[in-house]
Amino acid sequence: MTLPLDRASEATLGKSDVPLRLVGIHKNFGGVVAIKRFDIEVAAGEIVALVGDNGAGKSTLIKIISGLYQPSEGEIWLNGEPVDFRDASDARARGVEVVYQDLALVPDQPVYMNMFLGRELTTGPLRILDRKRMARETQELVDALDVRIPSAKATLSDLSGGQRQAVAICRATHWASGLVLLDEPTAALGVAETAKVEQLILKLKERGAAILIVSHNMDQVFRIADRVSVLRRGTQVGTKPLSETSHNEVVAMITGLTS
Ligand SMILES: Nc1ncnc2c1ncn2[C@@H]1O[C@H](COP(=O)(O)OP(=O)(O)O)[C@@H](O)[C@H]1O
Ligand SMILES: [Mg+2]
Repeated sequence: MTLPLDRASEATLGKSDVPLRLVGIHKNFGGVVAIKRFDIEVAAGEIVALVGDNGAGKSTLIKIISGLYQPSEGEIWLNGEPVDFRDASDARARGVEVVYQDLALVPDQPVYMNMFLGRELTTGPLRILDRKRMARETQELVDALDVRIPSAKATLSDLSGGQRQAVAICRATHWASGLVLLDEPTAALGVAETAKVEQLILKLKERGAAILIVSHNMDQVFRIADRVSVLRRGTQVGTKPLSETSHNEVVAMITGLTS
């Protein structure tokens, strides 16, 4: 793989300093093998797409990286350090953020409360919610990412599906220290909303985030990802730069059928 010039120094520092490195990740659920010896590195400013048929193990892998499941074997390295997450909050504390298709947002709360869900800012000895500061910081973040919502104070349920997903991605970006995991982030969205969310994902990439995205949408994978890794029934069939493969080849890798 060739790195752009501005990442050349990073490459010479050693590959283990990348935001995410998985080594030999294996996961059994009782007798069922969900993931077999999965390896990947995701660099800063890189989007890696994880694809595969239903049940291939994609969500299991995302859940392992985000601390929801523990791997049966293998290592997770973040920024050159091995990590061993006990649970999801442990992973979050280490700067790993996930966005799911089914949004973990609270509809009847304003956007800013959703942005700070579980991490609310308070003020004074009585720890009163600092709504002003949360609203201001949220507004700055959505503006910086060019997300068009009426206001940080708008009630979440008044936003469109695409705007809500954008809020979820902003939240992940805000709290992630460099690694964002996206599991089918546009599966529930229409074409125009999907395009906006893709623009936002590309903006995160420009800002240097390492992004691992699960997607069923092959066109989307080719539009936004740098590399693709294919899972078939828990086996990592291959990982390739998108510039060196084709739609047909990726589909053949997913299905195991050659065209
Ligand atoms: N908590 C669980 N307990 C038992 N089996 C599971 C569990 N989670 C996932 N699996 C199994 O692991 C395999 C991979 O599932 P999953 O990661 O959800 O696939 P994908 O996201 O690629 O559709 C499937 O066979 C699924 O039934
Ligand atoms: Mg899944």
